[in-house]
Amino acid sequence: MAKFTSVYICQQCGYKSSQYLGKCPKCESWNSMVEEVEEREPLDYARGKKGKSKEKAEIIDLSSIKQINYKRLTTKIEEFDRCLGGGVVLGSIVLVSGDPGIGKSTLLTQLALNIENTLYVAGEESAQQIKLRADRLKPNAKLSVLNELDVDIIIDAIKNIKPSLVIVDSIQTIETSDLESIAGSIGQVRECAQRLQRIVKQLHIPIFLVGHVTKEGTIAGPKTLEHMVDVVLSLEGDSNTQFRVLRGSKNRFGPTDEVGVFEMEDSGMREVRNPSRIFLDQKVEAPGSAVVAVLTGVRPILVEIQALVSKSGMPAGRRIGTGIDNNRLQLLAAVLQKRLGLLLYDQDIFVNVTGGLKVFEPASDLGICMAIVSSFKEKSVKPKTVFAGEVGLLGEIRAVREMEKREKEAKNLGMSYIINSKTVKNLAQCVKIAIISP
Ligand code: TYD
Ligand code: MG
Repeated sequence: MAKFTSVYICQQCGYKSSQYLGKCPKCESWNSMVEEVEEREPLDYARGKKGKSKEKAEIIDLSSIKQINYKRLTTKIEEFDRCLGGGVVLGSIVLVSGDPGIGKSTLLTQLALNIENTLYVAGEESAQQIKLRADRLKPNAKLSVLNELDVDIIIDAIKNIKPSLVIVDSIQTIETSDLESIAGSIGQVRECAQRLQRIVKQLHIPIFLVGHVTKEGTIAGPKTLEHMVDVVLSLEGDSNTQFRVLRGSKNRFGPTDEVGVFEMEDSGMREVRNPSRIFLDQKVEAPGSAVVAVLTGVRPILVEIQALVSKSGMPAGRRIGTGIDNNRLQLLAAVLQKRLGLLLYDQDIFVNVTGGLKVFEPASDLGICMAIVSSFKEKSVKPKTVFAGEVGLLGEIRAVREMEKREKEAKNLGMSYIINSKTVKNLAQCVKIAIISP
């Protein structure tokens, strides 16, 4: 009898069926059946159901556990190590996600070339294609490539070779013959990732899985993978600009809000050690532009916020933000209208963070507001001014954490005025001192 059978399990209510059903007969939800492997174990009456022994549960006293120092492997790419919290932890599983063509394979091939004895599992491209890319990055470098789609064969190879790092590009192309569903389905992705996880944890090898972002913006079917892995990194950026930002959104071994900044060049991804300088490089002094100091992880970055406010063709103006939270933009526009008396209701407001960076820190509020006011009034912000403050619903300016770091970065970049909760108390005061009157 086969050791494995496959069953379809409803993800909503847990109903099991031996075949695929479009609608769950129990809870009546549609498309909720996912194929999973069921392992058959002989029933052992002496040891209890399914052969599990009925021993007493072991309770652990946390104080008896010694502090662990995770062994980490450096990727020799500083910006990458930063996102991982100082190198990749041995035996950990890292998911790297991003839109197609953003540079995932490029960045991971660079990593593979940096670390000796890396196994690159290529499910998407042929060995020739990988060679072309590798030659572009580092001519005639050594790299072991495995062109294989079957997860069990990949696991055998890992056991035999015992590489120092495994890269699987991508997890959606890998499959197991124990399941009937096609590669890339939720069941396949989850089962393959689980099997790989088991083996790398046993052998203490770090593994990177490339995962595609689906049309809905989630990774490989409703975030199934994100729960399983130790670290989730996403490579973001506007494909029209050369900047790419690697952002950590989950990390069991380090901080999550760190970002690494890269520039896509002909010879691969180049680290950007001083992102502020690059983000402010093309800044022009014109109405609608303001500089904010935001913290990404422990690093302060200065970035330009641009706003365009113009009369809308509709009864109610639209608020569209790129690189910032749209709800936050709606709220700030309402605060500006109420507290400063600006007639923004029939104006379209577009806000953009230049360089493709995403800014979610409330410390950017004040800068966003000043960019909007500046565009609306057609008056520039005073040159060499940086904003760092949260804006409250009453129009008050609130303090933000680690102001010294932001001030230091601003000084390093030649900024003269830092406007925060210490310099101004509310929006009206801020407009008075930061916006140039003609
Ligand atoms: P790729 O890493 O294949 O993207 P992904 O794996 O995320 O789908 O790279 C995509 C783009 O990067 C491709 O259009 C070519 C470009 N590129 C460079 O600009 N420089 C380089 O050195 C390499 C290898 C690729
Ligand atoms: Mg790729």
